[in-house]
Amino acid sequence: MAATNPFVYGEIVTSAAFADREQERDRLRRDLASGQKVFLISPRRYGKSSLVRDVLRGLARENVLTVEVTVAASSSYVGFLESYARALVAADTPMSRLRRWTSELLTGVRPEVRFDTAATGEPGFSLAFPAVRTARDTARLAAEVFALPARIAAERKQKLAIALDEFQALTAFDGDTAEQALRAAVQDQRAVGYVFAGSEPSLMERMISPKRPFYKAGPVVRLQKIDPDVFGDWLEARFKASGIKAEAGLGAAIVDLAGNVPYDVQRLAHEAWDDLHEAGRRTATLDDLHATLTRLLGEQHTVFEESWQRLTLAQRAALRAIVLEDGREMLSADVRTRHRLSGASSVQAALTALVKQDVVMKDGASYVVTDSLYREWVARKTF
Ligand SMILES: Nc1ncnc2c1ncn2[C@@H]1O[C@H](COP(=O)(O)OP(=O)(O)OP(=O)(O)O)[C@@H](O)[C@H]1O
Ligand SMILES: [Mg+2]
Repeated sequence: MAATNPFVYGEIVTSAAFADREQERDRLRRDLASGQKVFLISPRRYGKSSLVRDVLRGLARENVLTVEVTVAASSSYVGFLESYARALVAADTPMSRLRRWTSELLTGVRPEVRFDTAATGEPGFSLAFPAVRTARDTARLAAEVFALPARIAAERKQKLAIALDEFQALTAFDGDTAEQALRAAVQDQRAVGYVFAGSEPSLMERMISPKRPFYKAGPVVRLQKIDPDVFGDWLEARFKASGIKAEAGLGAAIVDLAGNVPYDVQRLAHEAWDDLHEAGRRTATLDDLHATLTRLLGEQHTVFEESWQRLTLAQRAALRAIVLEDGREMLSADVRTRHRLSGASSVQAALTALVKQDVVMKDGASYVVTDSLYREWVARKTF
């Protein structure tokens, strides 16, 4: 029996653990190769970063220079500019030529380059701009850094594809100025494709609305869930390839229990596979799946209980109603009566609070519990 678990969660999945997304991959690859500025939007854990990583890998094989930066990893605007400049320079330049290149490419802003060996033992370097103090300095630095991709493309006669992940974090740095500076720089960069990926749909949608700098900057891709049938079949095929034959319908049951959120699907499949493998099993049944689910709920019990305790009574009642009603028609008289909820406006307030705490998410007109395991816990352990 194969010893490695074929299901992966909590990290960016690469080709082997990748289900579906054929059309999205083709489209993004084409858009980036032709220098488009693409907005990629979905709720958390749908697979944006995995999709972007996969497409960038493909482009790198076609001799496109690729750069990936997580905007939300920086704690300030200047910090972001440093990490972005570092990533651009690193993509472009062999270590040996680094010093010359940084001084040539970043002419106006005097970078400080430090060479170090990171914890991994890989040679590395950091880039800092200690001379940047005022807002004006920052604006000058931003203009230089945001212009870099086009300069690198011209120098190397090569196309670039740049992914700025968790892009919604840009708005937190400096109001509109960061957005304006970036938008102004990218719009003329014909040889550089950008994908701005973000996991807070409401913030991302606002960034591309009228009067905002990125309005009509380029195509918008709203990543959907994976087709549940395709995903279910894919799961069963991967069980089989790893030496465990899944009972018909097991894949669909996993997708369903996991709310068809890719992360949750892979988590449940991974954990079920582990239990089966440990027991030396060669077949998997729905009962096995439920045994794994029960184990996971037991392990998370304390965490879920604490989360439940933090909610007000009105929020708990609204949450239970979401679980039992599949999140639909939450404000209707019917649902409110059935679950003994109060008036529509106080239910609305409870729902808003639950969304704010990230316990539930809005999906169109309905509400879903963000963590599918928590949903199962609420369904089984609360009254
Ligand atoms: N196409 C896919 N096929 C199978 N599993 C996937 C796929 N895409 C994502 N996943 C699963 O979902 C998990 C989360 O994916 P990823 O980190 O790419 O999502 P994300 O949308 O970037 O999330 P976040 O918004 O939290 O950054 C992955 O670790 C993997 O388990
Ligand atoms: Mg991500």
